[in-house]
Parts: sequence; C-alpha cells; structure tokens
Amino acid sequence: MDDSERRSIVLVNPGLAPVRATVSTLYTAFRLNDPREIMPPHRHSINAARIGLTGEQNFTSVEGEPITFGPGDVVLTPANAWHNHGNQGDDFAVNVSILDLPLTEVLNAAVFEHDYKEEENGKMVSRREQSARYTDDHSYKTYGFGGLRPRFLDHHRGTGRHSPMYVYRWERTRELLEGFRDHDGSPWDAIQVEYTDPVNGRAAYPTMTFLGQLLRPGESTLPQQQNASQIMIPFHGNGHSIVGGKRFDWEPFDAVALPGGEWYQHFNGSVSEDANLFVASDEPTLKTLGFYHRQGKTADGEIIMLN
Ligand SMILES: [Fe+2]
Repeated sequence: MDDSERRSIVLVNPGLAPVRATVSTLYTAFRLNDPREIMPPHRHSINAARIGLTGEQNFTSVEGEPITFGPGDVVLTPANAWHNHGNQGDDFAVNVSILDLPLTEVLNAAVFEHDYKEEENGKMVSRREQSARYTDDHSYKTYGFGGLRPRFLDHHRGTGRHSPMYVYRWERTRELLEGFRDHDGSPWDAIQVEYTDPVNGRAAYPTMTFLGQLLRPGESTLPQQQNASQIMIPFHGNGHSIVGGKRFDWEPFDAVALPGGEWYQHFNGSVSEDANLFVASDEPTLKTLGFYHRQGKTADGEIIMLN
C-alpha cells in the first residue's frame, strides 16, 4: 500500500474528514498503473475489491493466482490474502478500489504486512513478486459454472470468510443482466445482480457486497432509503442520481456516495443507451449485526418496507 498509493487518488468525503473515507465504512481510490509495472506483494486485514476501468491488462496476483483483468472485471483481494498489483500491458491502466478500511479503523482492526516471503531450499526468502501457484483461469475454471461445484477441490481459500472466486468477469455479468433485459426488474433497483460467494450464495465479503446494475434506456428507479452506505460507480452511459434531495449528474467513471440514511434514486439520462452501475455496499455488516433497514416509496408516494 505504501508503494502503490503514490498514484492513487483517494476519494475523501469532506463531511467525514479527517477520517479518510468515502462513506462511513468504505474507502475508494482510483489508481493509475504505468505500463509493465508490478508492485511488491503486501497483505492486510482489510477486504478490497478492484474494478478495471481502462487498459486490458490490469494485473493482480491473489494468493498465487495471477489475474489479468480489463474494464468492468471485479477482482477480490480478501482479508489477509497476499496480493500484488500492476499492469502487464503497454498502455496505462486505471482501476478503482473499494475497501472496508474505515470500518476496520473504527474497530481498531487494520493490520498491514509488507514482507512477503516464499520458501526456497527450506528457507523463507523475501520476494518482490508472487510465484504462481494456480493457473490464471483458476477462479473461472472452478466457479464459472453457476450451480456446479467441483467436489475434489478445497474451497476454503484464505480466511474462509469470503468468496473463493477471486475474479468476476464483466462479460459474464453483462450476459446475465442482458438475459433479464425484458424483465420488469425491481422498481427500486431495476435489473441488479449480486456478486456472491459461489459456494454458499452469501455476499463476497462478510463486510461488503458488490452489485451490478442495468438501467435500461430512459429507466429510473423509485426513491428508497436504507441505512447501508454505498458507493456507486457508473461505468457505461450517463444519467443522474438524486441523493438527499440533491441532484448529481454522472458519467463514466465518476463515483457517487450514497450515505446510509439518505433517500436516493437513479435516472438513466439516455433514451437510447443503457447505463451500467457498479455498487459496493456495507449491507452484509448491517445484516450480520441485525441493524439493516430499508424502505422505499411506491409510485403513489406510499412508504413501504423493503427487504
Ligand atoms: Fe492491498
């Protein structure tokens, strides 16, 4: 993190300063990677997800699984998993990270380690890159078939409290969203899918969940209010959101804070183009603690509880 932060822009919500947070529990940073650079490995108790924005060869190795990723792909670097970031392409690559860092700071639970070692001839030696222990298609080969699970593999990767699938490809998310294009969807969330742990169906992390959302041309959502805090990254199309009564116009690759407690709704600003949104939410934390609360307004303006 010390090394990689040099070319990161951290989105600090001035309302939460001096805490470095975008919403109360989540931290967002846009990162630029130069061509062909690989940062040294590190690990931390913080969970993170990285979403590719530009460049086809963003790179993250997670616990020996080398993952190359492009726009819209989501890569998990779970708590205490060694990872090193970089770019294997000849072009600059930009990605955005979302971390539960502010939550771990409130809990006094943030731990960082930078001295990555591997065994060599019976001795532990420091390394600047991770040796691959898995093939680069391991996550997809193992978990890319929804509803089917290889019985001969160990699915307990890392702490066992997060998804063992370390990359979710945009192409598959897009295909799933596309398959429901003609569905009514949710009046509050349109066509929205969750990135889940393929082994148990839970959120990818115990603290954070990630959502892919399609707003069809001209589509808008009805107002809703929840106490989960969210960060929304539009990466295709343009439109606006009303958050706490204020209008925020957005386009790729803005980031919109949806703080818990504020009423919000989204509008696709185009009558011919889709809008695709990536959303990170601290909803699993609130659900685990029994705090979660969500309500929405109907088309008639009546307020109803939503699950
Ligand atoms: Fe990290």
